[in-house]
Amino acid sequence: MKIALDGPSGAGKSTVAKALAKRLGIIYVDTGALYRTIGLYVKRKGIDKEDKEGIISCLEEIDLNMEFKNSEQIITLNGEVVGDNIRTGEIAMYASKVSAIPEVRSFLLNTQRDIANKNSVVMDGRDIGTVILPDAEVKVFMIASPEARAERRYKELIAKGENCTLESVLADINLRDKNDSTRQTAPCVPADDAVIFDNSGYNVEQSVDRVIEIIKSKVEI
Ligand code: DC
Repeated sequence: MKIALDGPSGAGKSTVAKALAKRLGIIYVDTGALYRTIGLYVKRKGIDKEDKEGIISCLEEIDLNMEFKNSEQIITLNGEVVGDNIRTGEIAMYASKVSAIPEVRSFLLNTQRDIANKNSVVMDGRDIGTVILPDAEVKVFMIASPEARAERRYKELIAKGENCTLESVLADINLRDKNDSTRQTAPCVPADDAVIFDNSGYNVEQSVDRVIEIIKSKVEI
């Protein structure tokens, strides 16, 4: 079974997808982590995040691998486990920039499809239902107001000890939304056959229940 869970940053996709994967006994794939890993490499190389040519030409130096141990996703970049190095606000911005480059998206395409071909997955991203897995049995596009999303992301970052304000997180979210939804290649938009779910007033449990309802309306589980 393939479940595509798309939507903008901070819509709660990863929290819901993780809980969903656990309940259904399938794998949770966080595809944003792949773009973040490219962003990390670009940053470490000192390449400007606007330097498309520089970014494209460094792709050939990247050996990126994604595997699962006890259902946990592990990404290695040239043999190094990236872990939490990709979970900073700065790397999120690099990820947003590199993800707008078509060559970067094609570079990561097969990694994502291979995993879905070999396993039952709930895959979280921006273009899973439209580009990566157009044949997914279930497609959900999760949204929430920018303010609700900023508040969740702010709490996450503060808990990790990052220095930020709610205003700066909201500004980052608005900027990333603009980048992600207006880019020419694989913009963050719902597939024609996706169910749109606005979870602004929902807690995690209610969101998971709602997505399970959507899944049940499409397939037998
Ligand atoms: O979900 P995230 O915040 O970890 O994603 C980081 C960036 O990667 C985000 O700005 C958009 C991009 N992304 C994408 O373009 N396509 C995906 N399937 C997943 C993420």
